[in-house]
Amino acid sequence: MRKPFVAGNWKMNTDSHSSVELAKRVASGSSQVADQSVTVAVCPPFVYLQSVARALSTSSIAVSAQDIYFEPKGAFTGEISASMLKDIGCSFVLCGHSERRHVVGETDELINKKVAAALAGGLLPILCVGELLAERDAGQTEQVVNRQLKNGLADLSVEKVSAVTIAYEPVWAIGTGRTATPQQAQEAHDFIRKLLAQMYNERLAEEIRILYGGSVKPANAADLMPQQDVDGLLVGGASLNAEDFLAIIQAAV
Ligand code: PGA
Repeated sequence: MRKPFVAGNWKMNTDSHSSVELAKRVASGSSQVADQSVTVAVCPPFVYLQSVARALSTSSIAVSAQDIYFEPKGAFTGEISASMLKDIGCSFVLCGHSERRHVVGETDELINKKVAAALAGGLLPILCVGELLAERDAGQTEQVVNRQLKNGLADLSVEKVSAVTIAYEPVWAIGTGRTATPQQAQEAHDFIRKLLAQMYNERLAEEIRILYGGSVKPANAADLMPQQDVDGLLVGGASLNAEDFLAIIQAAV
C-alpha cells in the first residue's frame, strides 16, 4: 500500500529564525505519526535548507528543496546542484512546480533534465504537473497533464521512475483559495495513474504516490485524502502555519 505523503512548500517565505522555529514545531507536533504512518517533508527556501535540516536531524521529517539545477557543477551562476542538496541533508526536491513553469518559464525539457539530475544525484524528485484555468475550461486538462508527465519523465527507466512522486496541482487552485473538488482531484489522479500504467506497468502505477496540491487547508484535507488515488498533499500557504500543517498531516494519517 502507498504510504500517505504530506509536503509543505514554504515558497519564498520565512526567515532564518522563523524557518527553524516552524520546522521544530512541525517536528514536535507530528513525532507520533511522521515516518510510521505518513511521510512528512518541508521545502524551505534554499538559504534556510541547511539550518532547517540541522533542526530536523533527530526527527523523521524529510527536507526537500524547491528546485534544482541539472548540471552537477561548474560555471552556472546562481544555481544549486543535486550533490549540494544531498550534502546538506535534503532527500527530496520539487521539479516543475507551476510557479517555476509559469512565472520563471521552465519548459518540460528543462524539467526533465532536473528530474534526471535529481535521480542521478540520489534525491527523490516530486514532479509537479497541472493545467491552467483556460486549459481546463477548454477541456484540455488530460492533454496538458499527459504532455507534462510524458515529457517530464522522458528517457527515464522504470527503476528510476519508481523513485518519483507526482504532484497534481491545477494552476487555478494554487494560492487562489479555490480547491479542486475531491471528485476533480480523483479524476485527474486516476488519469495519471492509468497513464503511468500505460507508460510503464501496472505495478509501478500502483506503487507511485500521487499528491494533490492547490489551496489545501485543514478543512478540505479530510475530504481529499479518502479519494482512492489521492496519496497525499502538497501544501503551500497552509504549511506556513504549524497548527494548520499539523492538522493536514493528521488528516492524512
Ligand atoms: P497553495 O500552494 O497551497 O498555497 O495553493 C500549493 C503549491 O503551490 O504547492
